Amino acid sequence: MDKPVGIVGAGYVGLPLAQVFAEAGRRVILVETSEDRVDAINRGESYIADVSTEELKPLVAGGRVEATSDYSTLAQADAILIALPTPLSAQREPDLTVLLAAVEDLAPHLQRGQLVVLESTTYPGTTRERLLPVLERSGLCVGDDFHLAFSPERVDPGRRDWTTKNTPKIVGGVTDACTARAVELYERALDTVHPVSSPEAAELSKLLENIFRAVNIALVNELAQLCDRMRIDVWEVVGAAATKPFGFMSFRPGPGLGGHCMPIDPFYLTWKAREYDFYTEFIELAGKVNENMPYWCLGKIVRALNAHEKSLNGSKLLLLGVAYKENSDDTRESPALKLIELLQAEGADVSYHDPFVTELPEHGLVSVPLEAETSDCVVIVTAHRGIDYDDLVERAPLVVDLRNATGHNGTRNGKVWKL
Ligand SMILES: NC(=O)c1ccc[n+]([C@@H]2O[C@H](COP(=O)([O-])OP(=O)(O)OC[C@H]3O[C@@H](n4cnc5c(N)ncnc54)[C@H](O)[C@@H]3O)[C@@H](O)[C@H]2O)c1
Repeated sequence: MDKPVGIVGAGYVGLPLAQVFAEAGRRVILVETSEDRVDAINRGESYIADVSTEELKPLVAGGRVEATSDYSTLAQADAILIALPTPLSAQREPDLTVLLAAVEDLAPHLQRGQLVVLESTTYPGTTRERLLPVLERSGLCVGDDFHLAFSPERVDPGRRDWTTKNTPKIVGGVTDACTARAVELYERALDTVHPVSSPEAAELSKLLENIFRAVNIALVNELAQLCDRMRIDVWEVVGAAATKPFGFMSFRPGPGLGGHCMPIDPFYLTWKAREYDFYTEFIELAGKVNENMPYWCLGKIVRALNAHEKSLNGSKLLLLGVAYKENSDDTRESPALKLIELLQAEGADVSYHDPFVTELPEHGLVSVPLEAETSDCVVIVTAHRGIDYDDLVERAPLVVDLRNATGHNGTRNGKVWKL
């Protein structure tokens, strides 16, 4: 029987990865520090939306997937994939504390012949400069005794057309033998594998993907602000430009970036670039524009209320959607949270409705019914499906639509204010 695949970290990345390997016939051991998550997995219950309990249960019952918090079980694995958080510190510098602590825990159990692959998003050089020295303290030598590679996870949670299985997998090993081993592993479970010449190329390719989105979103966010001043509908402009069948890619403006990746990952490169006397100005500028969006939206809400002879202070504001993207329950880095803080600081009476997010304990709020008529203004922050936006516009005295969810052209009797 095949040796199992070990996966460290059973979150948004690790659990779907486990499912893909298990469905390809591999046995998977998930190493996870949260006891609640270990217990849930071993009961066959999923807590990640992309993996349903119906899918997970038979894999667990059939002995294909198991979870533990014991790193020593990784000694049995032939490959160990690491999918741990890589956040920024309060000073917005890469924080590898969790990742490096886990590698320290793994190193004593490293076995001859094993393959270790880092999947967490990080700056170029992390695999070779930070992981390799810790793993080689075991006395084993990379390329000969064990293999080490980087392979970025590109999953977009909630997406059905492109998943962990069918999204091409980039792989870069520390040596050619490391790359070959990693390609062989992934080819047995995933549809397409794309090898590159080094872990650094693989690390940077993932950052490029996220930086590309962050910069282009900043561009349309800036354009939205100019359009507001010029009284041109930015959504109409973007929609018209998108009819060009070549040479243009459509990005939508909005209240700011959210999620674990986009507001964070680009700054991993900014930080590393400084070591080379290099300033990544596109990234910094995009960060500045995108981070300012909740503040800009605050100004727009103030102007909309003002047109209705109301001040923000004391007004009842109902935010529709607090997740960072539509049809998701993920509130990490959501611009809605920033907007709530800014509105409350100005004295607004803020409530929210979100069918996917029942409570925001840190803000002392729970999702309330969508009673638009009892608020002074409804602010559409996230355009979830299943909301009757026409009905909302009928009932609400004032709507600020930050996502073009209502689809109205410009303002309608001053009632709908779009970003
Ligand atoms: N979420 C995404 O959409 C996405 C997409 C692509 C890449 N990534 C990257 O993948 C990496 C993982 O992200 P994620 O969203 O899966 O994170 P996550 O927070 O959802 O999951 C991480 C898991 O690791 C566990 N954990 C923490 N410390 C541990 C330790 N020492 N040992 C074992 N388990 C531990 C946590 O309890 C959690 O279950 C990050 O670098 C992220 O940037 C995320």
